[in-house]
Amino acid sequence: MTDRTPDHIARLVPRLGLTGTERILELGAAPGAAVAVIGPLLAGDGHVTALDRSAVGVRRIHERNRDLVDAGRLTVLEQDLTMLDGDSLRPARFDVIFASNVNVFWTHPDKANVATLAGLLAPGGRLHLFYGYGPGDGVSRPGGPGSGRDTGGLVAATLERDSALTAVTVDGVSAPLEIRASRIVG
Ligand SMILES: C[S@@+](CC[C@H](N)C(=O)[O-])C[C@H]1O[C@@H](n2cnc3c(N)ncnc32)[C@H](O)[C@@H]1O
Repeated sequence: MTDRTPDHIARLVPRLGLTGTERILELGAAPGAAVAVIGPLLAGDGHVTALDRSAVGVRRIHERNRDLVDAGRLTVLEQDLTMLDGDSLRPARFDVIFASNVNVFWTHPDKANVATLAGLLAPGGRLHLFYGYGPGDGVSRPGGPGSGRDTGGLVAATLERDSALTAVTVDGVSAPLEIRASRIVG
């Protein structure tokens, strides 16, 4: 039986703007739902590295996406992103790095390893961080209908502090909430 794609995953993947040939890193990728949607889009050198700190989660990513692993399109890593050492990843540079509902970027920004992630992006590469599951979740406005915290503002401030990132934007209108940044070129 095919696992159902959660609505928030179905909504966020098109917002990655993929052509299919990108080298992609997903952070907190369990249970592999986004990977399963992205897999059929891959072409040419397109590849996904899916990272999660949970051993059970990593097993689920594998089970859900065995065909992509067998095709050489997917690498799955049990790894805490707060301990990530950029030198240990292959490929060494990514065109797109994204995460959905990985809270460390606003709960413990000093531990989120943003400098390492920025260093893993190819020049012009994009970082997309999504929050929430449905309309109104993870809203970017303090006092909005979600938890009341300004997730978008907190995460944007974290990304803006990194000198290798530019063009930080918050989309709090579409669901899920998205905070986006690009790696400076040159
Ligand atoms: C709330 S779940 C979201 C799962 C999926 N991305 C989604 O949006 O449906 C958070 C996931 O991120 C992983 N995660 C949280 N913090 C992490 C960290 N510091 N390093 C790696 N993975 C992390 C968890 O193990 C879990 O699989």
